[in-house]
Amino acid sequence: MTKHPQEPFRIKMVEPIKLIDREAREAALMRAGHNVFSLRSEEIFIDLLTDSGTGAMSQAQWAAMLNGDETYAGARSYYRLAEVVEEIFGFRYFVPTHQGRAAENILSTCLISPGHYVPSNMHFDTTGANIRARGGRPENLAIDEAQNPVSLHPFKGNIDISKLRDFIERLGPEQIPLGMITVTNNAGGGQPVSMENLREVSSTYKEFGIPFFIDACRFAENAYFIKLREPGYAGKTVLEIAREMFGLADGATMSNKKDGLTNIGGFLAMNDEQLFERARRELVLREGFPTYGGLAGRDLDAMAVGLREVLEEEYLAYRLGQTTYLTELLLQSNIPVIQPPAAHAVYVDASGLFPHIPKEQFPGQALVVELYLEGGIRAVELGSSVFCYPDQDSGEMACPELELVRLSLPRRVYTQSHLDYVAEIMAKIAAKRDEVGGYRMTYAPKLLRHFTARYEPVK
Ligand code: F0G
Repeated sequence: MTKHPQEPFRIKMVEPIKLIDREAREAALMRAGHNVFSLRSEEIFIDLLTDSGTGAMSQAQWAAMLNGDETYAGARSYYRLAEVVEEIFGFRYFVPTHQGRAAENILSTCLISPGHYVPSNMHFDTTGANIRARGGRPENLAIDEAQNPVSLHPFKGNIDISKLRDFIERLGPEQIPLGMITVTNNAGGGQPVSMENLREVSSTYKEFGIPFFIDACRFAENAYFIKLREPGYAGKTVLEIAREMFGLADGATMSNKKDGLTNIGGFLAMNDEQLFERARRELVLREGFPTYGGLAGRDLDAMAVGLREVLEEEYLAYRLGQTTYLTELLLQSNIPVIQPPAAHAVYVDASGLFPHIPKEQFPGQALVVELYLEGGIRAVELGSSVFCYPDQDSGEMACPELELVRLSLPRRVYTQSHLDYVAEIMAKIAAKRDEVGGYRMTYAPKLLRHFTARYEPVK
């Protein structure tokens, strides 16, 4: 064994990638209004925009797709997926959806009315937006360590239980139709939640009669962190840990585009029969019949296989090995990154890297632009572009504490030499950090503005 675990696979199909020259990158960026979401795939060399739906499927998944049953109702593919969902998540009911936000939309439509609040450690952008779209208010109650990039707390995704109790007591449980937690906490550096915290969160929600839903996108990575870091779990399998996690909740929203190892797909699971009935009605309206939910039968089969593969420990060790490797390289160049490393991405503290760029001038966006210009690398800002929203009472902009840039690693896609390249480009940028300036938005929609915003450099 070398220091970092080898890929537990070899490559048998390749997709060419190419670095276009600097001039072409500059032109592309101008056309895109400095928003990398508007670039075209062929303009990008290493795409670390997201780990969502960008992974490589296995031969077993591709083989399973050929067995996809495209029957409209009652397809075999559905029952194969149902068996796996039952085995891992253990909820009484579930509906497939085309991706995670569709599950969030259905859940929000069923449960949230104007004036409601939904606490979590940190809501991801689509989750928060779906709550807002129903007139509700997402509330983030992660522990203070979540805001400290260098704190080595092993479970920085945890909810602060006393903040949660205060919040529920202050607003009254009748204002809170559900409580959530995101595993791992994508908006807060991909940090995991401990089993102990899940237990406490579960019993707090239960005490007040609030249904508890887990945003399960990266559940396998979270379970693996519990195995590595939490006393009493080293001898358990990742599957056993996952089952224990979900046993504490009343339901889950899932994007299979992450730890389902597929390019599309998701589901909403729950124990409450009445909620299931309502969710099914919404599903038929928006997604499709309850045995396919906006997906082809073959997608359901790919999900069924992927959900089992993602629990393999050799895979999870390799996955965490990749982010650990890249983190170590960046630290060697004195680039401030969130520690300890997440499993799905490396998060750079852009304000730490560019202390001269004020928050209002999007230091994260500045780094995203530099990564593209210097190396054709696409990363994503997870800072003020994404998470600033006007306060629903005062109207003033409320922004996140950290200005992060996420280098997300698609699953089973890039090799160690790709990561070496990313580290080299980051080091180059760090060496000329004083020359990098801020940005202002020239266009921004109200909801989920980062996807289509346009920017220009501040002179
Ligand atoms: N919850 C979390 C924690 C997520 O990270 C995402 C998606 C969703 C929900 C929504 O799932 O994309 O299938 O609709 N995150 C992607 C990302 C987009 O880049 O982190 P979806």
